Formats: sequence, structure tokens, C-alpha cells
Amino acid sequence: MSATKSSNIHWHGANVTQSERESILGQKGAVIWLTGLSASGKSTIARRAEQLLLERGVATYVLDGDNIRFGLNKDLGFAPADRTENIRRIGEVGKLFADACVITLTAFISPYRADRDKVRELMPAGSFFEVYVHAPIEVCEARDPKGLYKKARAGQIPEFTGISAPYEEPAAAELVLRTGDIDVDGCAMALVNHLVEKGFIPAASV
Ligand code: ADX
Repeated sequence: MSATKSSNIHWHGANVTQSERESILGQKGAVIWLTGLSASGKSTIARRAEQLLLERGVATYVLDGDNIRFGLNKDLGFAPADRTENIRRIGEVGKLFADACVITLTAFISPYRADRDKVRELMPAGSFFEVYVHAPIEVCEARDPKGLYKKARAGQIPEFTGISAPYEEPAAAELVLRTGDIDVDGCAMALVNHLVEKGFIPAASV
């Protein structure tokens, strides 16, 4: 996808400014972009962080790779161009959610650095956090919750990330979560604390 195909379209802005929206809702929108190998822990951490944030009264939502491929991106596979389009669309959706002041957690392998960088460029400065959910491939393969590594090793899944398709590690992620060393709660709390430190959500009132 490149330039806009439609002509005669006009941007229609809101009646409230972004800072008015933020002060009414008491939070700022952000995209927390979790990237990493299959079975590295992205979805599990995103779901736990979502729960922790909701318990604090923060509006949040998870966009998850597997789930999005059942609907919005059901027309996409795993060839490089499809993965790029997958990430482009989710970048745009994440931008809309963040514009609505929602803390948006995304859990996509997003194996290409250039695709992730494009999403960062799309977002207002400072509202995109790249989080590298890291576990060595041997650890991911040993976990293999969906049996996909086994199938990929048997040649039943072509272009499987880490086995027969590349994963480009982040060069400058805002956070690295080592899921082989830190448990789910620890990783999810690190995300929540990061958002507090950066002023996107209020500190817990306990
Ligand atoms: S991405 O590479 O385009 O970002 P995405 O996160 O949407 O991938 O989907 C990854 C999920 O699809 C994996 O967790 C796994 O369950 C499933 N999957 C099926 N085929 C593949 C494949 N060839 N490579 C990686 N994941 C695959």
C-alpha cells in the first residue's frame, strides 16, 4: 500500500483539542508495541498488563496477532509482503486507538525492523514504545504452546519465524523483557510502571 487512492476527501477535525480529550479522560493514548518470536510471551504479557491497567481504571485494549488474523487481516498470510501489510494496518489501527486516549497493547511478531520503524514514525513523538519480548529460540521452541515449532521443524509450516523466516531484533527498544528470567507479573508490571514514569497514566492511588 502506498499513496491515497481516493481523491476529493477532506480531513474533518474534532471539536475538542487532544489535550482537552486527555484531561477529560485522565490519560494519554500510547501504543505499546510488543515484538518477539512466537511463544516468546507477547500475548500473555499483553493480557496481564491489560488486566492490571483495567483494575486501575485505565482504558486499554490488546490487539493480538492471532486474533486480528481471524478478522481485519484474514486476507493476509505470512509472506514478507503480507507481514508488512499486517503491521502497517495495525499501526494505523493503533494510532486511532491511541488518538482516542486508549493505552493500546499490540502483540505481533512483527519480524521486520523497517515495518516497526514505520509505525513509530506514524505515531506522535514519544507515544510509541517498542518492547522486545525476548526469549532464546530454544526456550520458545521448548514451550511450543501451539505445537507450531514442531510442525515447522517437520516442514509443515513454510516461512516460520525463527526457523525458516527471519526475525530482526530491535536496535533500540524502549524496554526489553526477558521472559526466560522474569515471570509474567514482573514483565506486565514493568510495562505499567513505564507508562506511569512517562506520564501516560496516573500513579496508583494506594
Ligand atoms: S507477523 O509476523 O505478521 O507479525 P503475527 O503476529 O500476525 O505475525 O502472527 C503470528 C502468529 O501466527 C503466531 O503466533 C502463530 O500462532 C501463527 N503463525 C502461523 N504461521 C506462522 C508463520 N509461518 N510464522 C510465524 N507465525 C505463524
